[in-house]
Amino acid sequence: MATTNSGRAGQRAGRPIGLPDTGIYAHVVGWGMAVPDKIMTNDDMSAIVDTTDEWIQSRTGIKERRIASDKESTATLGLKAAQRALDIADVLPTELDLVIVATSSAEHIFPSTASLIQAWLGATNAGAFDLSAACSGFVYGMQMAAQSIRSGAIRTAVIIGSETMSRVVDWSDRGTCILFGDGAGAVVLRASDTEGGVLSAILRSDGTGGDLLGLPGFGSNDIDGVVEIANGHRQGKMHMNGGEVFKFATRVIGESLTQATDQAGIKVSDLKVIVPHQANARILQAAARSLKINESQFMMNLDRYGNTSAASIPIALCEAVQTGRILPDDYVGFVGFGGGLTWAAMVLKWGAPQSAPAATNFINRQRRLFAYNLATFRRTLQRVSRRLNNLIGRLRPQGKMERLRKRVEREPFE
Ligand code: UT7
Repeated sequence: MATTNSGRAGQRAGRPIGLPDTGIYAHVVGWGMAVPDKIMTNDDMSAIVDTTDEWIQSRTGIKERRIASDKESTATLGLKAAQRALDIADVLPTELDLVIVATSSAEHIFPSTASLIQAWLGATNAGAFDLSAACSGFVYGMQMAAQSIRSGAIRTAVIIGSETMSRVVDWSDRGTCILFGDGAGAVVLRASDTEGGVLSAILRSDGTGGDLLGLPGFGSNDIDGVVEIANGHRQGKMHMNGGEVFKFATRVIGESLTQATDQAGIKVSDLKVIVPHQANARILQAAARSLKINESQFMMNLDRYGNTSAASIPIALCEAVQTGRILPDDYVGFVGFGGGLTWAAMVLKWGAPQSAPAATNFINRQRRLFAYNLATFRRTLQRVSRRLNNLIGRLRPQGKMERLRKRVEREPFE
């Protein structure tokens, strides 16, 4: 799916394309991340599968990853990341129009993880949905929200990439389990009349490669609760043909970044930072060679978190901003690739407006805390009132029957 108009490539840099010029721009105004405390090193991994720290580091660049505790899930990590992003953006939950969660390890098929987070945030004016495009999901979500903002349909959205991959990897397959980790990242996108923000995006899919990377089961092919899974793949467990995915990834990174920058009217070398999906350092090195750019242009933190699927781009983005690698007016690229097969690239002109004065921030932080507490109270109240209604409902027919019986006794039929 091309969501931009390639016929307008080369237009003035800084002006987004793909929609009529509405004079509304979608800017990143907040960012946040949340990772579990528990660190699993490569040595820890070698106690589970036949591998070594040397093999993992040399083949992937990964040194360690985070693993969710029993109390953590895709929704709880996503919630924390979203709350941090709202703090930076200084946006109240009630100002959100849309909550999108990109994930491959959703809390349930439904209710969506996005709806759970929407309720926990107290985002009472927002729509919410999960987006399934595997490791490209965050970029897809950004584009869905950006287009909605630029069309004037909504003003503010939070896009979350959140994963607990540790729950869906096959811990007996050393070719995949060593790669993945848990975590979440989030971004607040907001309408602004300042030129810039999301400039262009390329979204693509090639479903013919669906068998190369997947997480089978729990779908509509699950007739009578028994899924027939081909090739020895396990229900609810991820599988991957690493070599084929590697080749696919190195090809589409260069291709899609070139298309997205063309459409934004700039060159790949103009991007101050490219924030890629963090799958494998060797993939990014190969992509840098084919793009003829220095690999340092890629933001990389996979050594510490591994591959966190849809969460990897927003987590890397947070660290790029926090370490000062991205400054106002910088061009920033995103590129994601993964199951589907799917891939996506995006170009933004960074322009996060100045945050509000400290006093306003403080007051608004208290208002956000109040909104979160109110949301918890509202959920509890709704649960209690539903239980009470059920109880009353169960009692009511008996009461009616009792009244009828008494009436029949008083007024016998003739
Ligand atoms: O997020 C979605 C996108 N995912 C990706 O982009 C992942 C893309 N693929 C990759 O990153 C790489 O293909 C892997 C890291 C998964 C594998 O690296 P590779 O260099 O392609 O290794 P390989 O699969 O070709 O395996 C080479 C050897 C094999 O042994 P033999 O047959 O040569 O004796 C494997 O059995 O390495 C062996 N091997 C391992 N050895 C130690 C595979 N996994 C491991 C392991 N530890 N964990």
